[in-house]
Order: sequence, then C-alpha cells, then structure tokens
Amino acid sequence: MEAVLSVEDLWKSYATRPGGPRRQALSGLGFSVPRNSVVGLLGPNGAGKTTTLKCVMGLARPDSGSIRIFGRDGGAVEARRKVGFLPEQPYFDLYLTPRKLLLYYGRLAGMEASAARPRISYLLNLVGMEDEADITMDKFSKGMLQRIGLAQALLAEPELLILDEPSSGLDPLGKLQVRDMLKSLSSGGTTILLSSHQLSEIEEICDRVIIIHKGREVASGALAELLEEEGECEVLLGKPVPESMATIPPTASWAEGGEGKRLLVPRDDLNAALASLLEAGASIAEVRSRRLSLEEFFVRRIGKQGWEVEG
Ligand SMILES: Nc1ncnc2c1ncn2[C@@H]1O[C@H](COP(=O)(O)OP(=O)(O)O)[C@@H](O)[C@H]1O
Ligand SMILES: [Mg+2]
Repeated sequence: MEAVLSVEDLWKSYATRPGGPRRQALSGLGFSVPRNSVVGLLGPNGAGKTTTLKCVMGLARPDSGSIRIFGRDGGAVEARRKVGFLPEQPYFDLYLTPRKLLLYYGRLAGMEASAARPRISYLLNLVGMEDEADITMDKFSKGMLQRIGLAQALLAEPELLILDEPSSGLDPLGKLQVRDMLKSLSSGGTTILLSSHQLSEIEEICDRVIIIHKGREVASGALAELLEEEGECEVLLGKPVPESMATIPPTASWAEGGEGKRLLVPRDDLNAALASLLEAGASIAEVRSRRLSLEEFFVRRIGKQGWEVEG
C-alpha cells in the first residue's frame, strides 16, 4: 500500500506559560495514510488530534519526528501543494463574501482567476452555500462558516484532504451532507484524513482508524478488522438444554434476553468453550460471530472516562 502521508515517532510539547514547564501533547506518535483510504484520527478531547494535524500541515513545529507527504519531506512546500486542509477553527475575514474569500485563497494557491471562478461556483454549490455566496460572512453561523471552510479546503482539487473535526458546529442535516460529500470525494479518488471525537461519524465514513489517547496510539488499522478481532461469538444452544447448563464456561456469559439459550464467548476462547459445552452434554445449534461497535471497542481500550460519546 502506497502511503500518501507517513508520520513517524512524532513528539511535541507545549510550554504551559512562557519559560514554564512543558506539557507533552504527542509522545512518539506514528501512523500512515494509504492512498485512496479514508482514515479517522480518533480520540477524546485533548488527545492530540489537532496538534498532530497542525504538525502535518507545518503550522506547529514538532520537537522531533518525521513527516513525509507524497514521499517527500513534509517541510517541502511542493509536498503540501496537493493537500487541502480544514482547520479546527477556520479564521476568515468576516467582512468578505464567501466568493471573494475563496477567490483570494485560490489566487494564493496560484490559481488563475479565470480558472478559480467556475471552480468556486461549483464548490459553493457543493457545500450548499450558493445562495449565500455574495453575502458578507459576519452574519454566518458556525455551521455556515464550516461549509465555507470545506469549500476552501477543496479549492485546489487536493489529492489528500485533511479535516480537523469537519462536522463540528453542523446540525444533523449538515453532518449528513458532509458525510455524503466525503464519501463521494473518496469514491472520486481523494484520500482523506479526518479527526473526530464522534465515534458514529468515524464508523460511518472511515475505512481505517488511528485511536490516540494522551498523545499515543492505542490502536490502529482497518476498522472492520479491529472490530472483528475483538468481537465475540454468540453460541446458540440446541434443545434440550441440559440441567448442568447452570454452570457455563468461565469466560462465557448469557446474551441479554437469551438466558438458557444464547451464550457470548470471547473469540479466543471459542474452542475451549465449545468443548466444555459438549462435555456438559449440550448440543450446539449455531455459532455466529458478533462484531464490536466502535464504541464498545473504544471503551475497552480507553475506558469511558473523559469521553464524550456524542459531542
Ligand atoms: N497552543 C497550545 N499551548 C499549550 N498547550 C496546548 C496548545 N495546543 C494544545 N495544547 C495541549 O495539548 C494537548 C493536545 O491538544 P489538542 O491537540 O488540541 O487535542 P485534541 O485536538 O485531540 O482535542 C492538550 O493537553 C492541550 O491542552
Ligand atoms: Mg482538536
């Protein structure tokens, strides 16, 4: 798999006050983003997501570590030319209109005005802001500004799109629209790295995840595989269930509502559990594998503490 972005052993600390002690934000973080994937950088507030993305974009300086974008050193301007970025808190001059702002960014990115104009109209339409294109942004809500931020990130037709909490400030319909937009960009070949603290968003859009906590990776990989690996098996007992089934294998538990018929067994213990069930005279009607939800996975790895399940 070709990586469009690879980050290795990234360390970053911040001074808590000028000359004061430093707080560690990233402690040896590493990950890579394969071409054409949609990767979710997931972690609770303060985990280090924004710091990571800022380091990748050259907006914060890591203490040490390596960042390569499209195989080049991340510090090279050329490396970032094909990267679009939506910051966590986009800062715009609110006395501009979206169309003027985007034209300004387009010119900064080296686009000709004649090429930028139709692209801007297309993008304003894509993010659902065509009717507000010529109104100054001081009247905009956070969600509207977020849409303009997305249009800005897409301006130069990036091959790699990096988004810091793209759904923040959006209402449920806005969130849905962003999801659809990202899915369609992804099927058009754009590689996407997005940070989020919302599990449902990540589960819906991403095919890979990097879960970070306190500046360190706690799990990463293909989402489906992670959830499958830590999943359980549901064992359906055939009738009649023997009396001795009151004592079930030590790592098994009755499935909710399935007492006496349905057992949950950790994947690694399946063979031992089946053997002991057969030994006890039970018959096995069916074994199904049950995938974890991302929330269950997360709680197992990090715990519920400090976590906003939906923010
Ligand atoms: N500019 C800064 N100065 C000092 N500390 C910071 C700064 N930015 C972030 N931090 C600290 O670094 C840690 C990681 O923050 P951040 O990267 O914003 O996390 P996330 O985006 O996952 O919520 C937090 O402890 C935060 O308080
Ligand atoms: Mg953040």
